[in-house]
Amino acid sequence: MQNNRNFFKGGILLSVAVSFLLLGCSEEKSNEVEKKIEKSVEVVEEKIEIIEEKTEAIEEEVQQKAEVVEEEVEQKVEVIKEETQALKAEVVAVVEQKTGADIYKTCASCHGQKAEKVAMGKSQVIQGWDEDKIVAALKGYKDGSYGGAMKTLMKGQASKLSDEDMKRVAEYISKL
Ligand code: HEC
Repeated sequence: MQNNRNFFKGGILLSVAVSFLLLGCSEEKSNEVEKKIEKSVEVVEEKIEIIEEKTEAIEEEVQQKAEVVEEEVEQKVEVIKEETQALKAEVVAVVEQKTGADIYKTCASCHGQKAEKVAMGKSQVIQGWDEDKIVAALKGYKDGSYGGAMKTLMKGQASKLSDEDMKRVAEYISKL
């Protein structure tokens, strides 16, 4: 009986010891788990930081690129504006361009409606002259290299004409 009781006592002591041991063990384990969790949290936090840095860098890059694009667009708008204005000016010039017939109205008083007259009793009759001959005479009057006694008068007339005007009026006269 005595032996049995001792054995029983021993059994209780042993089980207490084992449970202490087990308790100790599980405490150690939960510490380990905690440490692991802490480490994971640290890793995640580091990654978040990296992502934030990268995001910032990307944002900066996007902003810089947007600024470049904005500048390019502004420049192109400026170019298009200038081109549009030039085109408008061209269209206006074409619309306002005098025809050969319009220009000849100022010549007809001296040279006749059909260019058939001897202007002021001095000029040659220019009816029947071809375009090139008329243009050459007008250019000559303009730069002083052509003409007779009354060339100064015709210099005044020819100087008002651009090269284009001369061509137009010459073409008109050549067909009268
Ligand atoms: C106020 C009168 C007058 C008007 C306006 C006039 N002319 Fe004349 N034109 C003359 C006279 C005068 C001459 C001769 C000048 C000279 O001595 O060379 C002449 C000469 C010319 C000649 C060369 C003929 C030649 O004798 O060698 C041509 C071409 C001509 N005129 C074209 C024109 C045209 C085009 C216009 C209109 C843009 C024009 N003229 C307006 C008086 C006029």
